[in-house]
Amino acid sequence: MKFFIDTANLEQIKEAQELGVLDGVTTNPSLMAKEGITGAENITAHYKAICDIVDGDVSAEVISTDFEGMVREGEALAALHPQIVVKIPMIRDGVKALKYFSDQGIKTNCTLVFSAGQALLAAKAGATYVSPFIGRLDDISTDGLQLIEEIRLIYDNYDFETEILAASVRHTMHVLECAKIGADVITGPLSSITGLLNHPLTDIGLEKFLADYRKGNG
Ligand code: E4P
Repeated sequence: MKFFIDTANLEQIKEAQELGVLDGVTTNPSLMAKEGITGAENITAHYKAICDIVDGDVSAEVISTDFEGMVREGEALAALHPQIVVKIPMIRDGVKALKYFSDQGIKTNCTLVFSAGQALLAAKAGATYVSPFIGRLDDISTDGLQLIEEIRLIYDNYDFETEILAASVRHTMHVLECAKIGADVITGPLSSITGLLNHPLTDIGLEKFLADYRKGNG
C-alpha cells in the first residue's frame, strides 16, 4: 500500500518524507489556497518545490472544466516535472480528458469520485489513479469504506490497472480499513500516517527497557 500525503504544506511534506514512508503527494486548489499559493508563477514554482522534496507522484489539479482547457492545462502541468500527475475532475469532459492523457502516456488522477459507477468510468478511460473521497461520504452519513470495497471488487473482476487512491482520509482507522480492503494508495493529513505510530504499551515498554538498562549500567 502506498502512502500519499494530502497537503500543499512544504514543512509537512518534508516531515513525511523524512519519516521514510512517503510515496507521493496530492494537492487540490483548496489546499494550495490554504497555503496562500496564488498566481500562475507561484503555483508552478510550488509544484516544482513539492517534486523536489518527495520521490513519488505529485497530483496537480486542473482548474478548467472543458476538454480543451483541461488538455491545455494538463499538458503544461505534466511538462513541469516527470513526477506530476494531472488531476482531473469526474465530469463528462474530464472523462474525455482522462482518455486523451492515457493515450498520450501522461499519468492522471481522477478526483471527486463518489460512486462505483464513476470509478468504473474512470478506469475505462484509462485513469492512472481514481480518488474516491471516503471522508466526505462519511460526512453525509454514507459509508465511504463500502465504496472502496465496491471499487476493489469491480476492478479485480476485470483486472483494471487503475489504482484505487482512497482520498479524503481523515484518520488512522480509515488508513487501516483501506489496507484491509486492499486500496492501492491512501492520501490524508500527516496525522493519519504518524498516528499509526502510537501505542501506550510501546511507550511503557520502552520506558521499562531503558530504566532496566540504566539500573545495570548506571
Ligand atoms: C484528494 O485528492 C483530495 O485532495 C482530498 O483527499 C480531499 O480531502 P478532504 O475531504 O479532507 O478535503
